[in-house]
Amino acid sequence: MTSIKVSFTQPDLQAAAISIAERLGLPVVDAEEVAAISRAADRSVDQAAGVNAGYYLQLDSQGLSLVPVRRKHHGPIRCDFDSGALAHRRKFGGGNGQAIAKAVGVTGKFVPGVLDLTAGLGGDGFVLASLGCRVRLLERNPIVHSLLRDGLDRAAVAGEDDSELADIVSRMSLIEGESRDFLGRLPASEQEDIVFLDPMFPERKKSAKVKKEMQAFHLIVGSDPDAGQLLELAMQRARYRVVVKRSVSADYLAGMAPSYSLEGKSTRFDVFALQRLPG
Ligand SMILES: C[S@@+](CC[C@H](N)C(=O)[O-])C[C@H]1O[C@@H](n2cnc3c(N)ncnc32)[C@H](O)[C@@H]1O
Repeated sequence: MTSIKVSFTQPDLQAAAISIAERLGLPVVDAEEVAAISRAADRSVDQAAGVNAGYYLQLDSQGLSLVPVRRKHHGPIRCDFDSGALAHRRKFGGGNGQAIAKAVGVTGKFVPGVLDLTAGLGGDGFVLASLGCRVRLLERNPIVHSLLRDGLDRAAVAGEDDSELADIVSRMSLIEGESRDFLGRLPASEQEDIVFLDPMFPERKKSAKVKKEMQAFHLIVGSDPDAGQLLELAMQRARYRVVVKRSVSADYLAGMAPSYSLEGKSTRFDVFALQRLPG
């Protein structure tokens, strides 16, 4: 994992920043130090080549975010369920007609429970919870987990004025840790309706198409080389289906051909159907 420091933008956030840093075992830097390092990074010769100078985990009045040391690189990456793309998709996203809804089998008659073994920033989990699914989310990367925890906590606060958002967030529960260990601890007979996987994919060559946010994720999380093992375990724990999210041009995960695939514009859902859905 790349070296990350925790920063804070105002004095009243210092104590909270220290507690986050202690939990993650990371150093804390204050705003002045951050500004000096960022100025130097912005001026450095590598900038023209687009070299990434790393990230801070920054606590500000809007919560926790990942900000690039080189400020011009891109804006903060935070987990935001209450505004932006996810809020828009919740209101205008096409409901059960979306490929992800069809892939997990949400219908007017049946709404499955979902175990999301690769939570990330919770985007897919939130869409599934918006469709009515109860979603358990597992995330092993401590920094990504912290960002997601913060996003869920802020969404719960925003939910005090938005009962629909409150309902959605109440259907999402986050567990920190390795999914393979979690599955290993479950009683042998325990299954979930749908097991969902969206592992990291090895980074494509420095292509302009790889979004800056995705570059950040590659730096923080790396690729998920053990995703094939996770798929094998998932097959034993899913009652109806395992759904693997891939980029549209990607090979099948671990070379395992699904029962069928549903394609969106840039994303493909590989569906391993194990049993007919109820209803
Ligand atoms: C591509 S991201 C998932 C993005 C997510 N679907 C979203 O909508 O935000 C993959 C995430 O899965 C996590 N992950 C991968 N393998 C895992 C495992 N075995 N246990 C727990 N988390 C895992 C990685 O740390 C990474 O944050």
